[in-house]
Amino acid sequence: MIEAGIVGGSGYTGSELLRLLAFHPEVEVKAVTSRKYEGKEIWKLHSFLKGFYSLKFVNPELKYFDDCRVVFLAVPHGEAMKFAPQFLEAGLKVIDLSADYRLDRETFEEVYSKEHIGYDIDAEPVYGLTELHREEIKKTELVANPGCYPTGAILSAAPLADMELIERVVFDSKSGISGAGANPTDFTHYPNLHEAIVPYKITSHRHYWEMVQELGRFQGDIKVSFTPQVFPGSRGILTNAHIFLRGELDEDELKRIYERFYSDCYFVRFQETVRLSYVRGSNFCDIGIFKGEDRVVVVSAIDNLVKGASGQAIQNMNVMFGLREEMGLNFPPLFP
Ligand SMILES: NC(=O)c1ccc[n+]([C@@H]2O[C@H](COP(=O)([O-])OP(=O)(O)OC[C@H]3O[C@@H](n4cnc5c(N)ncnc54)[C@H](OP(=O)(O)O)[C@@H]3O)[C@@H](O)[C@H]2O)c1
Repeated sequence: MIEAGIVGGSGYTGSELLRLLAFHPEVEVKAVTSRKYEGKEIWKLHSFLKGFYSLKFVNPELKYFDDCRVVFLAVPHGEAMKFAPQFLEAGLKVIDLSADYRLDRETFEEVYSKEHIGYDIDAEPVYGLTELHREEIKKTELVANPGCYPTGAILSAAPLADMELIERVVFDSKSGISGAGANPTDFTHYPNLHEAIVPYKITSHRHYWEMVQELGRFQGDIKVSFTPQVFPGSRGILTNAHIFLRGELDEDELKRIYERFYSDCYFVRFQETVRLSYVRGSNFCDIGIFKGEDRVVVVSAIDNLVKGASGQAIQNMNVMFGLREEMGLNFPPLFP
């Protein structure tokens, strides 16, 4: 049995971890934090979990994690870096869902305009896009779980970047609003979002840097553009990757390249029709490949809270502990 703790259990990714870990045959959740709800039963905040947990929220103090072998940090960026070093020092494996360890230190400080105070560690952070970094994840104590947008975007372009075939890729992404976290804001207020699709940070979203970093590992000169939008739904990210190729490939050749690249990847599925409703609540990333006159369009769909966050974090935990990668996650999506 793997004893696990969650810092940030009152938020969306924290409660999604709790939902998913309730299915996991090899995990027992021992500690869940919330400063706001300290002392309150988890299910009293997260009513949908009634009957699954009798734990109460605790403050984020190390002593509550004495029994744990792994901790998930489901807190905002800038906060995870305060926790990771102490948990690593105490011998726990750390899976950070925030942005704090996804980029190298210098790039992080520039992109997030923040000094990184959590690099006094022995562990080598590994970018936790499991399909691309499985072997390194097996060996590390600190996984930097990817951003929600980069997960689908990078998976949709990696096979062609691996062959250095991309002239430019333009990621056009649409996300449900749970990507913004549980605290309501003007942006997420119902009348502001209802019947709307709202582009934001049109040329300046920070997730761009993860896309450049990861695709750049395959193809150093790759040109990337990214525009995010939100739609009035709770979950899911659909990304159209417009890929302008170097050279000519027909649709069958393209499909063979993708199938070969992801041949050992349970959670990447190829579909003729890609829809958010086909991945909802699941850890799958569905991919469709369409060849046009001037470009290839690779459509990807994920659930941002599962493959885009908590599901992938558990997938990474499975790899770190030598379990089957899909353990606790191999259930079908929730349709319709
Ligand atoms: N939402 C997504 O789709 C998604 C996808 C991928 C990655 N992420 C990343 O995952 C992290 C969590 O996102 P979320 O959407 O779950 O956010 P959220 O709903 O706003 O929840 C944030 C959680 O962090 C806790 N927290 C905040 N400041 C803290 C501090 N200083 N010390 C201890 N706990 C603190 C809060 O608990 P209390 O205030 O009750 O203590 C709350 O439980 C973020 O870094 C986010 O960027 C989110």
